[in-house]
Amino acid sequence: MCGIVGYVGQQAALPVVVEALRRMEYRGYDSAGVAILDGAGEVRVEKRAGKLANLEEALVADGGEAGFVGTTGIGHTRWATHGRPNDRNAHPHVSGDVAIVHNGIIENFAPLRAELESAGVELVSDTDSEVAAHLLTRAIESGGTAGDFVASCRAVLARLEGAFTLVFSHAKHPDVLVAARRSTPLVLGVGQGEMFLGSDVAAFIEHTRDAVELGQDNVVVMRADGYEVTDFDGEPTEGRPFRIDWDLEAAEKGGYDYFMLKEIAEQPQAVADTLLGKFQDGRIVLDEQRISDQELRDIDKVFIIACGSAYHSGLVAKYAIEHWTRLPCEVEIASEFRYRDPVLDRSTLVVAISQSGETADTLEAVRHAKSQKARVLAVCNTNGSQIPREADAVLYTHAGPEIGVASTKAYLAQITANYLVGLALAQARGTKFPDEVAAEFRQLERMPESIQQVVDSLEPVREIARELADSKSVLFLGRHVGYPTALEGALKLKELAYMHAEGFPAGELKHGPIALIEDDLPVFVVMPPVEGRGVLHSKLVSNIQEIKARGARTIVIAEESDEVVKPLSDYFIPIPPSTTLLQPLLATIPYQAFAAEVAAARGYDVDKPRNLAKSVTVE
Ligand code: F6R
Repeated sequence: MCGIVGYVGQQAALPVVVEALRRMEYRGYDSAGVAILDGAGEVRVEKRAGKLANLEEALVADGGEAGFVGTTGIGHTRWATHGRPNDRNAHPHVSGDVAIVHNGIIENFAPLRAELESAGVELVSDTDSEVAAHLLTRAIESGGTAGDFVASCRAVLARLEGAFTLVFSHAKHPDVLVAARRSTPLVLGVGQGEMFLGSDVAAFIEHTRDAVELGQDNVVVMRADGYEVTDFDGEPTEGRPFRIDWDLEAAEKGGYDYFMLKEIAEQPQAVADTLLGKFQDGRIVLDEQRISDQELRDIDKVFIIACGSAYHSGLVAKYAIEHWTRLPCEVEIASEFRYRDPVLDRSTLVVAISQSGETADTLEAVRHAKSQKARVLAVCNTNGSQIPREADAVLYTHAGPEIGVASTKAYLAQITANYLVGLALAQARGTKFPDEVAAEFRQLERMPESIQQVVDSLEPVREIARELADSKSVLFLGRHVGYPTALEGALKLKELAYMHAEGFPAGELKHGPIALIEDDLPVFVVMPPVEGRGVLHSKLVSNIQEIKARGARTIVIAEESDEVVKPLSDYFIPIPPSTTLLQPLLATIPYQAFAAEVAAARGYDVDKPRNLAKSVTVE
């Protein structure tokens, strides 16, 4: 997830673009950059690693507005996917007269890069994005219709696979910007004699409230006095014009009251992006792989280490990893791991899961594992952070920056990535046939659609939350992967609503916690999918009967078709069908919405719960 901006008009472009980048910084702050076309055939680029302030300093040092004259410009704030966050990998990427900015992932960048290199093109960055700039230069140079800037942009787009928003500029065509989108956002702002581009409307809301949402596989050619929208083949099509009625603060939150709600809504994209490019030529591929297939085959034990929600994602993964690989898999809270002298050696794989990549407990556990010669694989959302740097292999979750302190989209992305780790292990060890790995991956690929259905139907959950906001305590029950989901539900409620909450394996209730049940105590239960109905399902039905008999109020998350459990539910929250292993990707979402709504109803700051920090860098 990166921030994209563009401007063509009458004003000096630099301040407009920099201000727009400030509004986009929440989408990524690994680096920032601008390209300004001077109108006389030159393009001037400045880019810097780190926050926007670093870029601003560099711009001032290089003459500020006087050094970057021009009324057309593009800009980018980066959340790194391919390539470390540094100056070289920052956008815009330049090739001769061409400067481009990109958000998303170009899945086939490796063969495109090889093609360019064999043609003698020197690529200076490690990104997937840079290929688009060079392909455009080559398309223009190859003459004929392809010599036309706009047609050449289309020719390049036809060669790209994956998800992308791209803005192309050309120094010799300073009056025009060409932009395209596939599966990542892009909005057009329509002003008086000026046009804007942004990843969302916050980029230009100060200048105009007339916007056009671009559809899937749309290309927009924009000039100061107008724009035209086509598909990738050049056939005219239409965007969706709309009027923005949000204020700036609401615009930055996408119209939601809190970032957390926005991030809950972004979960289908976070999961889809995490899967993007991970299955190529019939195989699961990791991002950075410094462990050989032979070493993976020699693994005889897996430890997962993480904290908080990341730990819960690891608990979910254990079920899949043991089932798919037949390797024993232990999940440990990172802060406990190294103090109990775990048995580690060369044939141990330690999977460290961390959104921030900076959590001190997890980092120290990684260092301990490495000192004992274990192989370390990091699952991380933050490119260039410490944990992936010290790991032997990395799989990035592509959730983009998570601003709400309570993890939502990063959590679902972690579960997704952990499953990819399980499949990569099963593939290397031959415990699953290639067609079985492919089938599991296809099922994962279908999940964003089901996640979207859950996201779209959360209002009844919010109503329940408002009704139960004064409860003293809430319990969460589940079996199998429903158990870590219960732990996650309880954690969300504790951290956001400051309410006593506990998650239990439903079968454990009768060994003590059932004493907590009293009249009207809200108890959440996740039912296994109908597909898995059998012992697990009927045992949970018995557990619900036990708690109902003692006066609890039952709130049941289950498939719509689960008729058995409906009569036992005081509140019934339907979710779409799924396999048992994939169900946490759906069942967790009502828990997130419930906790956020209870917190809001109690008047608490949903994005910044008391006493908590997004990244915990002390042990
Ligand atoms: C809970 C939450 C925390 C983090 C934990 C680990 O909503 O966000 O429990 O999951 O602090 O953080 P990372 O994943 O950055 O290592």
